[in-house]
Formats: sequence, structure tokens, C-alpha cells
Amino acid sequence: MSDSAKQKQIIQAVNILQAGGLVAFPTETVYGLGADASNPTAVRKIFAAKGRPADHPVIVHLAAPEQLNTWARDIPAIAWQLAARFWPGALTLILKRAEHVCDQITGGQDTIGLRVPSHPIAQALLQAFGGGIAAPSANKFGRISPTQAAHVQQELGDQVDLILDGGASHFGIESTIIDVSGATARLLRPGAIPLSELNNIIHGTAALTPAKEMTRTSGMLLSHYAPVTPLKIVPKTTLSTLIKTLLSADNKIGVLAHSVMPTEKHEHLTWYTMPAEPISYAHELYSTLRAADAQKSTIILVEAVPEQEAWLAVKDRLKKAEGTV
Ligand code: TXA
Ligand code: MG
Repeated sequence: MSDSAKQKQIIQAVNILQAGGLVAFPTETVYGLGADASNPTAVRKIFAAKGRPADHPVIVHLAAPEQLNTWARDIPAIAWQLAARFWPGALTLILKRAEHVCDQITGGQDTIGLRVPSHPIAQALLQAFGGGIAAPSANKFGRISPTQAAHVQQELGDQVDLILDGGASHFGIESTIIDVSGATARLLRPGAIPLSELNNIIHGTAALTPAKEMTRTSGMLLSHYAPVTPLKIVPKTTLSTLIKTLLSADNKIGVLAHSVMPTEKHEHLTWYTMPAEPISYAHELYSTLRAADAQKSTIILVEAVPEQEAWLAVKDRLKKAEGTV
């Protein structure tokens, strides 16, 4: 697409947002389903399109860190330090909300999630629009986030006024969420930015919060980020035996494995060789799960990933897809 055609699309997108419509747009993490964050009626349309319960807060996307002041209050120094280091980028900060922020955004809570994305199309859109864009991932509630425009088209095509196509998302996994609204910084969702990088700034005070405290963060719910097909995480040592057993019982299976190679060929077995390194694995994960879903298998088996911290976000998404976190 030429630069002037791209510019025209951004103007069209801004017009849609101003008129209270929905625009899906690419970010460096996953695609977002955007609406004018200061228009409660428009924000309600996001919930209707996704089938998302009304008490789940959505992230507001901003063009630049300076806009934090417009959307949050009592901003601690650590928030500015994190913003300076990671924005624009794949970090979401939870802060105390500013007075004017509507309940549709916050799910009625006193906090707001804010992020300045780096993707050039997201940036162009935010700069041209000027205000905040409320945007959860552009998928049906509980399902896998889209990492390509075609995924949004398939899942929400008829409910979105415009889909901006920015190619495959760079990270392919959602932003890391840190809550800095309280006395200590807390990690609410591991994500595209690894903990090791965050801890350089937070000096090791970010700690995983037990899931039971986090029911208001939909990313912390059971069976989130899930394919339609049941998924099971299987240790490397038992994978081939389980495959044999399932195939002999006439199952159709998809296997995602990063170190085990296929031992047999079978018409009911589809093997997806995953990268052996966590960042590339994350990049491939959702599109591979979508592909495995499309095979209409009885079950998707995933070789368990390593326990190291670098795999934290991938492990979290796999457990949620399995329904065990
Ligand atoms: O990478 C991302 O974060 C993508 C892109 C589009 O920016 N967005 C995304 O949005 O993943 P969503 O809605 O699918 O997930 C955002 C998570 C949800 O689990 C939501 O509950 C949580 O952020 N969240 C948003 N505002 C919050 C708040 N005020 N307090 C606690 N959690 C919040
Ligand atoms: Mg989501």
C-alpha cells in the first residue's frame, strides 16, 4: 500500500473512532479492538462484539507517555521510570484512574490500564486521533488473541467497522502487565517483556500475585486464551506413548513440540515443530494454535516447555489454554 493510501486509511479510522465506531488495529503484541476511550457508548460496543462481561477492564492506548497525566492520578515515580524505559512498547501499567475515566473502561474499579504501543500503525492512529483508544485483544472473550489481520476478520469481521492490516505481530503474545497503583509493584500478567528486564528497573520487587486475588483481570481467569479444541500439556518423556495410545483409540491429534521429533507418520496426526527458544515460540504460539484448531482434532497435545523464567509468559498462556491456571 502506498504512503498516501495508508494515510487515507488512518483518516478513515479516526473518523470511525470519532463517530463511536470500532477499529481493529495492529500492535507489536497482538491486534487490538479499538474504540474512543472517552465515549462510553463506543466502549460498550467492544464488550458486545467480544462477548466480554462488563466488569472486565480494558487497556487504554495512548500516543505518548506524557498523556499518563490525563488518564491517571497519583502517578508514582516507578511508573514514570518504567514508562521512560519501555514506552513505546509492550508494557501495560495499572494506575489509579483519573476522575473523568468512565466505568466501562475500568470495570468499575478505581484503577486504569495504560499502554503506549510502538507499532507504527498504532502510533499513526493514536497520534492522528489525539485521544485514548480503549482496546482489548481483538478476539472473542476467552479465545486466542489475533496476531494477524486475517484472524480478526475471521472472528470479528462483521462487528468491526475497519481492520487495519499491519502484518504479523512482532511479539505475538500480549503485553506484560504491572500494577503500580499500590505500595509495591506487582506483576499481573507475564508477557512480551521478560521479568528479567523489568526487574532491572523495579529491583526485584515485582512478584507474581496469586490468581485468586486477581479475578478482575480476565487474563487471570481459568480457560482464557484458549483454543476451541481441548489442549493438554504433556511432559516430553510421556509424549510419544500418549500419542500412540490416542491414535490407536481413533483420535485425531495435533502436537506442538519444541524438542521432540515426530516418531511416526499417521493420517490423524499433525505435527507442529515449535521454536526451541521462548521469544520465537511466543511469536508462533497463537497462529499455531489457530491452525491446530482448524484441523478439528480431538485434542491438541503440547510438549511441556522448560521451567526457566524466560518461558514464564509462554507457560502461563499454555496453562490458561489448558484451563489449569
Ligand atoms: O498486548 C496487549 O496488552 C493487548 C494489546 C491490544 O494492547 N491487549 C490486551 O487486552 O491483551 P486484553 O483486554 O485482552 O487484556 C488486558 C488485560 C485484561 O486481563 C484486563 O483484565 C487487564 O488487562 N486490565 C485492564 N485494566 C485493568 C485494571 N484497571 N486493573 C487490572 N487489570 C486490568
Ligand atoms: Mg485478551
